[in-house]
Amino acid sequence: MKRSMTWLLVAMLLGSTTFAASTNRSSVVDSKHNLSVSGRGEIKSGSETRVCIFCHSSHNASTEGPLWNHETTTTGKFTTYQRSTMNSRTEQPNGATKLCLSCHDGTIAVGAIRGLSQPIPMNNVDASGQIPQSRSSHIGTDLTGTHPVSVKYEQNIALVDNNLRWPPQDPEGQVGTDADGYVQCTSCHDPHGSSSTKYPFWKKTTFSEVCLVCHEY
Ligand code: HEC
Ligand code: HEC
Ligand code: HEC
Ligand code: HEC
Repeated sequence: MKRSMTWLLVAMLLGSTTFAASTNRSSVVDSKHNLSVSGRGEIKSGSETRVCIFCHSSHNASTEGPLWNHETTTTGKFTTYQRSTMNSRTEQPNGATKLCLSCHDGTIAVGAIRGLSQPIPMNNVDASGQIPQSRSSHIGTDLTGTHPVSVKYEQNIALVDNNLRWPPQDPEGQVGTDADGYVQCTSCHDPHGSSSTKYPFWKKTTFSEVCLVCHEY
């Protein structure tokens, strides 16, 4: 956590261009997560010019994520993925998954950043400023149709599961669990850009490159 905080500060000081250039991916500026007036997607602000501000701030940030600036979901009543074929148990969203769902569960306004009495007004959101239910980016609070997230990837489970690898194998260190050992939305997605032209915010070039880090078929 301490290390990522430092990097965040460095990245913010250097500015978004340098941040983007330091990876091989498309940058957040050219993605649907650019929610500022220069954004490429349909959901964006009509006047806010700052790109990172919707998720991060340099001051008074919350400890829920790296210099986290967005209000976090308080729903606490997600229906998580559970099937009898699963050996592990999903938990209520935690870690980065909770950060993602703070816009994608459709219960918090996209422009609801900390310290503002009113959310930043956005185009193409619903009357409450939230991602409309009609959009496919609206994940909602029912996670039974989403790959298990906030699930601990444990050695004893991987060893008895005939298609989980132990340990997860990614020589490039992009795909895997978070620092606490959980599979999260960020196990597959990078919220800052994509290495794939086909899959959104994808950590690798192809679909199966991501899956095969943890699964063998
Ligand atoms: C739509 C939300 C969103 C936007 C916009 C965004 N980020 Fe992030 N950022 C995240 C999330 C979520 C994480 C935590 C990722 C994790 O835990 O794996 C993160 C983490 C980071 C980190 C910590 C290291 C890392 O990659 O995990 C840095 C540095 C960072 N962001 C920089 C930026 C900068 C600079 C911008 C603006 C150009 C930006 N971010 C815009 C969501 C966003
Ligand atoms: C500040 C709000 C916010 C946060 C936080 C956020 N997103 Fe998004 N995300 C959006 C919006 C708005 C869109 C565009 C949706 C649309 O056009 O329907 C989007 C789009 C996406 C898309 C589709 C991109 C495409 O090109 O089609 C993916 C995938 C995605 N987000 C994943 C994530 C993940 C994973 C996280 C957490 C690491 C996250 N988001 C955090 C607001 C957010
Ligand atoms: C196992 C990998 C994996 C995990 C984990 C995962 N996703 Fe995705 N996600 C994908 C793939 C693949 C796609 C593109 C194909 C599709 O829509 O199914 C996608 C698509 C999306 C989209 C775009 C949907 C659209 O049609 O506009 C959003 C938004 C999104 N994911 C958010 C999330 C969030 C939030 C989480 C955590 C709650 C999450 N994803 C967890 C693999 C994953
Ligand atoms: C970071 C590791 C990781 C990645 C990456 C990952 N998975 Fe998983 N996946 C898991 C874990 C852990 C489980 C829970 C397994 C269990 O408890 O039996 C799981 C469960 C599943 C299940 C449900 C199994 C069941 O019994 O219901 C499917 C299907 C699946 N993954 C497919 C995929 C696909 C497809 C991808 C790539 C888009 C992918 N996974 C990427 C770790 C991962």
